[in-house]
Amino acid sequence: MVRVQVPATTANLGPGFDCLGMALKFYNIVEMVRLPGGLVIEVHGEGVQDIARDESNVVYRAAMYLFKQVGFDPGGLRIRLINHIPVARGLGSSASAIVGGLMAANILSGNKLSCRELLNMASQLEGHPDNVAPALLGGIVISTTVEGEVRYVKIDPPPGLKVAVAIPDFHLNTRAAREVLPQHVSLADAVFNLGRVALLAAALQQGKLDLLATAMEDRLHQPYRASLVPGMKKVLAAARLAGARGVCLSGAGPSIIALADSNLELIARVMKDTFRESGIMARAMVLEPS
Ligand code: HSE
Repeated sequence: MVRVQVPATTANLGPGFDCLGMALKFYNIVEMVRLPGGLVIEVHGEGVQDIARDESNVVYRAAMYLFKQVGFDPGGLRIRLINHIPVARGLGSSASAIVGGLMAANILSGNKLSCRELLNMASQLEGHPDNVAPALLGGIVISTTVEGEVRYVKIDPPPGLKVAVAIPDFHLNTRAAREVLPQHVSLADAVFNLGRVALLAAALQQGKLDLLATAMEDRLHQPYRASLVPGMKKVLAAARLAGARGVCLSGAGPSIIALADSNLELIARVMKDTFRESGIMARAMVLEPS
């Protein structure tokens, strides 16, 4: 039996749309074993109501995709998912399913693919690399793709940096959150984000947390997604006031993260309370980068 664990991830970190992400110490576990002539999928924890247990299951599909690529016939599978990452909340649950399925299938079929090949495959399946790269590699990953190949740099999270997360109690699927984005943006907005994302990558690498407030600003996706996340702007502002170094929507939302090196519990509570004032029930937690 193969058992792998895959971290939650927070993508974009504000301005790094589709190219920046960070792994969090908060894991889903995938167990996989060959089962002659059958498919059994068990789901425990998050997503028990939502996750398919048939051939449309994302972990299963990723695994079968890999088996096909490497020419391996498992003959049937038993998959057990022990999930902690909430589904469709912007914390990389689908990336964790893809990466978990690929990693487990790779081990089961004799480790034929390298980590780089798994990353390229995961990015193709997900459509963008910003969640799957840190899910597979850990840490903070800056990534882009060139003709299907992921090019990336992994950096270690700054010492002492933690993440307060507020997780609303509603689902927002990534497709819907991408449909509200414009096809074209102004040069001014592109330049705004370029400056921030370059600053953010360097600030994270050098531990310059005082730059995060500016470096995590975004004009490419968050303004358009605000209408899908009631209270978003208020929660971002409240987290800043409570002492966050930088704040943003996590991935496509609806979760919101705040990066800080102190007062994390307070920031998390303030975010949760501010969501509640906008009629949204949310859980709050403090996580460490993985
Ligand atoms: N970069 C992606 C987005 C992350 O913001 O749509 C969500 O999968």
